[in-house]
Parts: sequence; C-alpha cells; structure tokens
Amino acid sequence: MGISLSGRSFLKLLDFTPAEINYLLDLATEFKRMKYNGVEHKWLTGKQVVLLFEKTSTRTRCSFEVGARDLGMGVTFLDPGSSQMGKKESLADTAKVLGRMFDGIEYRGFHQSVVEDLAKYSGVPVWNGLTDDFHPTQMLADVMTAREEFGDLRGKKLTFFGDVRNNISNSLMVVCAKLGMTFCACGPKELSPRSDLVEQCQAIAAETGASIQITDDVNEGAKGCDILYTDIWVSMGEPEELWAERIQLLKPYQVNKELMDKANPGAIFLHCLPSFHDRETTIGEDIYQKFGLPAMEVTDDVFLGKQARQFEEAENRMHTIKAIMYATLK
Ligand code: CP
Ligand code: NVA
Repeated sequence: MGISLSGRSFLKLLDFTPAEINYLLDLATEFKRMKYNGVEHKWLTGKQVVLLFEKTSTRTRCSFEVGARDLGMGVTFLDPGSSQMGKKESLADTAKVLGRMFDGIEYRGFHQSVVEDLAKYSGVPVWNGLTDDFHPTQMLADVMTAREEFGDLRGKKLTFFGDVRNNISNSLMVVCAKLGMTFCACGPKELSPRSDLVEQCQAIAAETGASIQITDDVNEGAKGCDILYTDIWVSMGEPEELWAERIQLLKPYQVNKELMDKANPGAIFLHCLPSFHDRETTIGEDIYQKFGLPAMEVTDDVFLGKQARQFEEAENRMHTIKAIMYATLK
C-alpha cells in the first residue's frame, strides 16, 4: 500500500514513521527538480492557506508563501498585531473560524499545546512552523540537505553543539532517531536535554538502529562527526538578560575551524539560521560591544567556508514545506 498523509497535521516528527518522513523527502526532491526545470505544478489550485505567526520569521514565512503560490493556492498572512487571536478571541474559536475558511493552517508561536489545539479545533491540517519545543519543518530541510551530500543517512553522525534543550536540538534528536542516525547533543551540563524526550528517542533508536549520545566534551562531539550543527544561543521568546549567562556557558561549544578539523573529513556544517557569525546585525554588534565576541555560535570562516551548507539548507525549506502542504492537502 502506498503512503498517504492526506488530511494529516504536521505538528512534530514523533507522529510520523520513518517511511512517511522518507516519502516527504522524496516528494520534496521531486518538487525541487520540477522547480529547477521550470515544470509548473499548480496541483492545489483553488485551495487557501493561512499563516499565523506569533514570532518573527524570514525563511519559514517565505517558504510557505512561495510554496503555496507554486502549488496554485491563495495565502493569507496574520501576525499578532493583525488578528484577534488570544486577545479578544480564544484559540478554540479562532481555530473554528479559520477551519471554515482555509484548507490548511500554519502556526509559529510559543507553546506546543497551541499548535496541537489548533489542529484539534480547526478540523483542517495544521503545520507547525516552530514552537518552543519543536521545529519539524526545519528538520525535513536539514535531512534533505544532508541526503543530497551523503545519500543514505543511516549510521551518519550529526552533532548539535550549543543549547541542547532548544527546539532545534529536540527536533534533531527525533529526526536522527527516526532515520537510524547517530545524534549527539554536545553542550554544557547546565543545559541538558529533556529527559522524557531522550527516553522517547532512545526507544525509537532501539527500533531503527540509531543511537543517542549526550556529552559536554566537544572532542567527543566532533569525533566521527559527519554533520556539525549549531543554532543561536538565546532563542525567540527567551529574555534578553540571558545573553551574558549563555555566552559564558556556550562559548566552549562555538563551531570554529579547530572544531571542524576534529570531525570526519568531508563533514558538513548546517545551521537553521538566522546566525550570529559576524557583526553585521544589531544584536551581533551589541554583543561585540558588551562582550568582545566578533561571532557567537559559529565563526565567520566556518560560515563562509567550503563545508558550509546552510544556504542550500535554507532553500530546501521551501521544497520540503511545499511537499508537506501538498501531501497533507491533496
Ligand atoms: N530557520 C528558520 O525557521 O528561519 P526563520 O526564523 O527566518 O523562519
Ligand atoms: N532556536 C531558534 C530557532 C530559530 C529558527 C529559536 O527558536 O529562536
């Protein structure tokens, strides 16, 4: 029997089997090929989607907008300043209204429970565009980029260096477990990963042949590593006052040339973006003035170096998000 995700929501990768994840990756590869060859694919003409953003975005919003238009759909964008959600109207009521007008809903915000409730009350597919806990659409782009580099990912080691309890690290642990990879969370003991999620991923790993490593030693993290991954040290929704403490804790986990050289030859660098790799942002410059750091989670030489694949990864957000929308709405 073929795989069908029609009518499903995409809230977290824990809800999907390895075969379903690979199906979405294959579909994204096909959409990428069509886009490159100028083959029109307005396969969802007449459908309408709405994008709800309670946090800022460049890649995710643009991927949904471009992906939806390529598929022939209409798109409406709502941010907290331009909707009643939460202030004058409950989440359940908002979801019921949107479900009567739209065929699918994207949501980016804070609690995972919000995106789960939107799916429960709207009656249409809901896609998680990032919550405090997970960023599942990002994961498909990440593994697609790694697959383009290495082919079969089983047995490949991906190490996340930095804030190992954030939404990206959580999600990488899940996707690596599902796809039979080795996931290594490399960060300070003070920020250790959620134990319930580690247990869940270990159980998945036992089925798929994956393995989960947790270490505070960067040498161990880099050893045998094929994919070095990092993310910003203070995530959206966290207070600015955390910067000083995080810099102190996470400086030893910066991805720099020395660390890259400890990984496997042929290893690649990934980053979900946005990134503080230089002083060309207001926050980057502010941190430099206060703490004297010209780069944070990754140095500029690695970011601009031959092993860096973050812009391929960013492009793949669009192809993978298109695959998710198509598979769930067709
Ligand atoms: N990686 C990512 O989600 O980027 P945006 O915050 O720009 O959407
Ligand atoms: N951990 C980051 C990811 C951004 C794509 C954040 O939540 O801000």
